[in-house]
Amino acid sequence: MAENPVKWLFLILASCLCFAFVLSESNLLIKKTYIVQMHKSAMPASFSSPLEWYSSKLKSVMSDTQSEGEGDGENRIIYSYQNAFHGVAAQLTEEEAERLKQEDGVVAILPETKYELHTTRSPMFLGLEPEESTSIWSQKLADHDVIVGVLDTGIWPESASFNDTGMTPVPAHWKGTCETGRGFQKHHCNRKIVGARVFYRGYEAATGKINEKNEYKSPRDQDGHGTHTAATVAGSPVRGANLLGYAYGTARGMAPGARIAAYKVCWTGGCFSSDILSAVDRAVGDGMEGKAIKHYALTNGKPTATLAFLGTRLGVRPSPVVAAFSSRGPNFLTLEILKPDVVAPGVNILAAWTGELGPSSLPTDHRRVRFNILSGTSMSCPHVSGIAALIKARHPDWSPAAVKSALMTTAYVHDNIHNPLQDSSTAAASTPYDHGAGHINPLKALDPGLIYDISAQDYFEFLCTQKLTAMQLKAFSKHSNMSCHHNTLATPGDLNYPAISVVFPEDTAISTLTLHRTVTNVGPPASHYHVVVSPFKGVTIKVEPKTLNFTRRNQKLSYKISFTRKSPQTMPEFGGLAWKDGVHKVRSPIAITWLPPF
Ligand SMILES: *[C@@H]1O[C@H](CO)[C@@H](O)[C@H](O)[C@H]1NC(C)=O
Ligand SMILES: *[C@@H]1O[C@H](CO)[C@@H](O)[C@H](O)[C@H]1NC(C)=O
Ligand SMILES: *[C@@H]1O[C@H](CO)[C@@H](O)[C@H](O)[C@H]1NC(C)=O
Repeated sequence: MAENPVKWLFLILASCLCFAFVLSESNLLIKKTYIVQMHKSAMPASFSSPLEWYSSKLKSVMSDTQSEGEGDGENRIIYSYQNAFHGVAAQLTEEEAERLKQEDGVVAILPETKYELHTTRSPMFLGLEPEESTSIWSQKLADHDVIVGVLDTGIWPESASFNDTGMTPVPAHWKGTCETGRGFQKHHCNRKIVGARVFYRGYEAATGKINEKNEYKSPRDQDGHGTHTAATVAGSPVRGANLLGYAYGTARGMAPGARIAAYKVCWTGGCFSSDILSAVDRAVGDGMEGKAIKHYALTNGKPTATLAFLGTRLGVRPSPVVAAFSSRGPNFLTLEILKPDVVAPGVNILAAWTGELGPSSLPTDHRRVRFNILSGTSMSCPHVSGIAALIKARHPDWSPAAVKSALMTTAYVHDNIHNPLQDSSTAAASTPYDHGAGHINPLKALDPGLIYDISAQDYFEFLCTQKLTAMQLKAFSKHSNMSCHHNTLATPGDLNYPAISVVFPEDTAISTLTLHRTVTNVGPPASHYHVVVSPFKGVTIKVEPKTLNFTRRNQKLSYKISFTRKSPQTMPEFGGLAWKDGVHKVRSPIAITWLPPF
């Protein structure tokens, strides 16, 4: 095999150099993948299908229609999207993409992005100790009939964590299927794994083409990552000892009764946005109601869920703490929206592993294990997803924003020795820029008392405050007739978010900033809340009204909160606002930022 590694190295280097040369010579001819959003209702009646229309659009901008086999726009399409999004992913040169941008019916063109998986792999097993179950709450719940879409590296169906013994039949509204492929048979799907599909550079193309890389077409997890995250979200309880060669109690997901639909979008090289979009689009078509819980870890290295030490491990003090590698705020895109949202366990997480690869993921590791221990935002995300599934099961009518509000307003900000949550990277107290609203508290999140709800139109109104072009706005409004009303949100900070971030401008003439919020009563019909706000050095705060008296369930009441300049600070100031009724405490973090000069 490796008779002459030096020569090989040389050859590889030489070909890289050649390639680099070719690249610089003819950059304009290199095709890249672009996601093209189309305005579906602008399709002329002469086309029989959107795909036909998209193909003809592509053809009209193609530079090389003369050359053989290139004449058809359809050849350039690697995905066509039809449920959550309308358009295609297509291979285009830069020039072609520029021309396509000018075409009628084209809403937006984005070059594809590649995302990395956010895992810190434990190369060897770490010490295990009997673990207090992290999910006692889930036994009390009927958390079935929620299907969680897991967009990751696929799933290893043989794992005991995906055992469906005792589960009820799959709900009728579910239209998804299990793709067969190398090493993955339909019978691998059961009442626990209700869907498994693979997306690889157009393999799932609506055109019916099979990608040249069809050796990759199995939804089976040959990496371990997806099996681990899926089991963390919704793995069935697996009791017993010696599963790893170590004794321990029970491994289970956050929502053991929930079902899993696995969409394989990540490979050794990463995850491509055109594949991810296709999986989301398909999940909606499969019956996911547009609410597929996508892996936060895939969202651009700025996950909204971050990490803390496993809070349930007994005897660790202080616990939890924010992990050094946790993602941090602020949100530089829009300071008025505080990020991150919450922290959740993400360090040393025990869950199922693939049988196709050793626990270290190294090809030289010939050990085979049923479970593995990993850390990362990839592990934190499925904790939040699983808890979100439990909340959704308890409250099927809640919107995604309501579920998120429940997670945020019930999160805690103190550790088990009653100090503010520590940041392990500084050994000092963490702030909302590190922990957001705090550490998730599943039991409380099931009964939050009040929620801050946000509709699709509200999100659109928020985007209207973001200085986007009409074209960019159109890309966000599913119905092209959605338009900005401009008087509904005075500032981006008025989005009905469960966190409050106030930004004082340089202009000192502006002395008072006022934000508006609306809460919905999801607790007892007659509920009386009063407000408590922490003190700030830089501002005085006034909340109006100071009490909220509800008389019925789902009643909405609004309040406003005014911040008056007192003594501008050089550093951001943090605190919180809580509505209390004697049973519930509905807390929002507050961040106050002073833009320079001071
Ligand atoms: C699934 O779980 C049941 C009950 O614990 C057990 O009897 C059965 O053997 C398990 N099946 C597999 C394939 O592990
Ligand atoms: C936009 O159009 C859709 C259908 O084309 C319609 O259902 C919806 O009510 C319209 N929305 C507004 C705000 O006019
Ligand atoms: C709510 O009820 C309390 C006690 O009855 C009363 O003092 C308060 O003014 C009421 N709040 C509002 C906003 O009506």
